[in-house]
Amino acid sequence: MSDQDFPADLVITGGQVVTHETIRPAAIAVKDGRIVAVGEEDAMPAARQTFDATGLHILPGAIDVHVHFRDPGYTHKEDFESGTAAAAFGGVTTVFDMPNTIPTVADAASLAEKHAIASAKAHVDYGLYAVLGEESLANVPALVEGGIIGFKLYMGNTFGRIPSPSTGAMLEAFEVVAPTGKRVSLHAETNSIMERRQSRLVEAGRTDALAHLASRPAVVAVEAVARAAILAEWTGARIHILHISSAAELGPLRDAKARGVDITGETGAHYLMLAAEEYGRWGGIIRVNPPVREAANQGPLWDALMDGTIDMIATDHAPHTPEEKTRTDIWTVDCGFPGVETQIPLMLTEVAAGRMALTDLVRWSAYNPAKVWGLYPRKGAIQSGADADLAFIDLDRRWTIDDAALQSRSKVSPWHGREVQGLPVHTMVRGRFVMKDRTLMVDTRGHGRSVHTIQDVGTPSPRHTDETLAAVVAHRPGEAA
Ligand code: NCD
Ligand code: ZN
Repeated sequence: MSDQDFPADLVITGGQVVTHETIRPAAIAVKDGRIVAVGEEDAMPAARQTFDATGLHILPGAIDVHVHFRDPGYTHKEDFESGTAAAAFGGVTTVFDMPNTIPTVADAASLAEKHAIASAKAHVDYGLYAVLGEESLANVPALVEGGIIGFKLYMGNTFGRIPSPSTGAMLEAFEVVAPTGKRVSLHAETNSIMERRQSRLVEAGRTDALAHLASRPAVVAVEAVARAAILAEWTGARIHILHISSAAELGPLRDAKARGVDITGETGAHYLMLAAEEYGRWGGIIRVNPPVREAANQGPLWDALMDGTIDMIATDHAPHTPEEKTRTDIWTVDCGFPGVETQIPLMLTEVAAGRMALTDLVRWSAYNPAKVWGLYPRKGAIQSGADADLAFIDLDRRWTIDDAALQSRSKVSPWHGREVQGLPVHTMVRGRFVMKDRTLMVDTRGHGRSVHTIQDVGTPSPRHTDETLAAVVAHRPGEAA
């Protein structure tokens, strides 16, 4: 038979297939990057190649909806190649990249530039975020046209110092985006509260790492989540709360969900597993926005993931150099640390400890992100018709996290030295191994594609459309409608 005569390119045998619901032994057949059959090995179509996954669990590749790959503008911290290599090692097959690069992704030209960079360098699939703020409001149609996964709105200042819109501008922004059906992901920390506290702490001479936490108590996030939910409810805009860090935020999130607001949320491993007690040990290395908080927050965050209040996990992969992370004055330390490579092993360690099931991990890392952004069932599923985006996991493999061994250019994190159990050993994106036997496949640079082309946002439901700023400004009393 010639290659074309085979009904499948590849059949993967011997693995345990894990979905958001089940774990079962099954073979997977792949053709042209898509899954064409899942089931008994005997029932698989003839394939040009087979791959033996005996002893491994096969999960839908993770979709990390919050990474900062720094390209263009800060490529000394990371670029699209190193960032997506790190993703591949972390069992992550799709990433959503944040717009706080230079230039900020806020208009058609900067978006086109980032698309060119990502399509040339990415090992894994990606979606691109555009900034939603006063400066980019007029560009919303051009940004949607140019191919984005969604919008990012900075309610508070963080790395990149993108100005946070006033509540008035935010309402208008939600009015403009609601009819597009695109979700607005929110950095939900209220700027005026934390800026005021930070300047008082600076005046008082505080430069220690814990002063960062003191400047951003949970009320900063509580107020922001509640306010964002009110505006989303009014306008019908879909919103997503990034990096939920506190038990207190869960109140306004739960209330909004109960009222029927289209609101989703994520938390990350650093809020589930690190606590304020560790500021002394890590200093600026642990500085991140929002801050790692008191240990008492961890239990409620786990419970909220379990009961669905929090929909997913994401890394907020925020690479910086060791020099940028180890300055003595906390206010001069860049915020964030890498995570795209370590999240899945950290969570697998919790699976090994019995805190959660492997199916929970798939729900939080792949299935729910795919559903929320309209990528399901092309992404986040192992079934016929889905992209063959697969993470091959060895549940027994142990690793001591070593910053120096990370693919990321950022060789500094508060995970350094931590023992984990469970590791992705191969990662496949649309039928091609991008990482195999813990080795990067260099020829898959540029294999990654933007997922906005497969996104289905469904029917938007904007509300109060006769009261939007655009509607009232256009209104001429006395003239016929
Ligand atoms: C992020 C970064 O470095 O880009 N830093 C962080 O502390 N999380 C920005 C952000 O997501 O807030
Ligand atoms: Zn953020």
